[in-house]
Amino acid sequence: MRIVLMGPPGAGKGTQARRLSESTGMKHLSTGDMLRAEVASGSELGLLAKGFMDRGDLVPDFHIIAMIQQHIDHPAGILLDGFPRTVVQAKALDEALEQTTTPVDQVIHMSVDIDELVKRLSNRALCGDCQTPYSLESDPPSQPGICDNCGGSVAVRVDDRPEAVTHRMKVYQDLTAPVLDYYKSHGDVVEIVATGSPDEVFEKLSQTIKSGMPGVNAN
Ligand code: AP5
Repeated sequence: MRIVLMGPPGAGKGTQARRLSESTGMKHLSTGDMLRAEVASGSELGLLAKGFMDRGDLVPDFHIIAMIQQHIDHPAGILLDGFPRTVVQAKALDEALEQTTTPVDQVIHMSVDIDELVKRLSNRALCGDCQTPYSLESDPPSQPGICDNCGGSVAVRVDDRPEAVTHRMKVYQDLTAPVLDYYKSHGDVVEIVATGSPDEVFEKLSQTIKSGMPGVNAN
């Protein structure tokens, strides 16, 4: 199965994709995590991407498509988080999937109101090593600054500064919201209200994914 998780910055895509990957065995593919790993390694792509990311701009399509293309096939299925983010990327994904046997099976849009998104991002910190997200308000690491999962260093993301968050929201509206229209014109987009506790959102997503699995009745 191939599932695209969509939603604005802070909707909880990364939080939920990690949990869904654990519960279903599907591979979690986050272009944001992949790019942060490139930045941390000091690679050519990382050096190029850093400026775009820190400002809250999208990294150019060409680099993103080249980076993700070899990962989109996995026997246990994939959960795409943060990709595709432009219509050009969505079309490139469709073309790449034509070479394989399975198209995108489900597109799930996680919606959260803007005040809640801004609040979540202003409280977020992230492990620089394994990329586990924390909420400094409701779900902080047990020891300040140290990741519970891998012992790595937990810090606030540069692009979670208020001015970058405002810009990321605008970029989402201008460039990523049209991807939802693209998918709606090809089939269904499942809408999930992604407020409530992470457990409640996880339950909704799990049910949605289960109902979309081959041979499972939607009821
Ligand atoms: P990326 O890392 O993909 O950032 P994003 O899409 O802006 O998403 P976020 O990571 O901010 O939010 P999320 O939805 O994953 O929420 P999370 O689970 O962390 O991309 C970063 C940058 O990389 C982009 O700006 C761009 O420059 C570049 N990039 C990446 N992909 C690209 C692409 N395809 N093309 C071009 N450029 C690309 O949760 C947020 C917080 O809320 C956490 O603190 C979490 O603990 C908390 N939380 C989660 N769920 C709940 C809940 N239910 N209730 C309360 N708090 C919650």
